[in-house]
Amino acid sequence: MPLDFPLRGDRLDLRPFVEADLEAMHRVYGDPEVMRHVGEGGAVTAEESARMLAAYREHQAQHGFAFWAVCDRATGTLIGDAGLEVTADGVELGYTLARAWWGRGLATEAARLCVAAAFGPLELPRLLAVADVDNPASARVLARLGFVDEGRVIAYGRPHRRFVLER
Ligand SMILES: CC(C)(COP(=O)(O)OP(=O)(O)OC[C@H]1O[C@@H](n2cnc3c(N)ncnc32)[C@H](O)[C@@H]1OP(=O)(O)O)[C@@H](O)C(=O)NCCC(=O)NCCS
Repeated sequence: MPLDFPLRGDRLDLRPFVEADLEAMHRVYGDPEVMRHVGEGGAVTAEESARMLAAYREHQAQHGFAFWAVCDRATGTLIGDAGLEVTADGVELGYTLARAWWGRGLATEAARLCVAAAFGPLELPRLLAVADVDNPASARVLARLGFVDEGRVIAYGRPHRRFVLER
């Protein structure tokens, strides 16, 4: 079943990205502290942020899901991304929030909305996630959602833990 956007949590709305989100999202992807454990690790250029958002829009059109814009409902502020991506290994959950918004349970809320979409309307059988071994906050978010730690893998050239959640 197609998703009905925005996905609504207590404090957050998740919706597909639009081109106008680039400036706000580059403030997130351009922050080396935020990006330390994401992908290859490290801040990206504005051109790379634009490519990422274009890829998310393309992924949304192709699969009906993608990494989505995470917005603080009270102010409408775009605070990061969270969502689902098709990988060679299966559908993977991910999330990246601007530093000012860390430590308030918002990644957990965003990730929970993604899981509900995956196992509800999208009817996916399982989700994967990887967290850099030096990123305990991300591992904690996954553990709180019930993801099972399947041990160490190398992802993006660095040791990660691989997590799985069955529907
Ligand atoms: C990882 C990230 C998404 C967490 O976002 P957040 O909104 O602060 O997360 P939450 O508040 O929902 O939950 C974080 C949990 O980790 C815990 N935590 C935070 N820092 C921690 C640390 N250094 N060691 C252990 N646990 C930690 C918190 O106490 C909380 O657990 P609790 O709910 O049991 O109290 C956020 O820091 C982020 O966007 N980082 C940069 C991008 C990133 O690394 N993304 C993940 C890639 S795999």
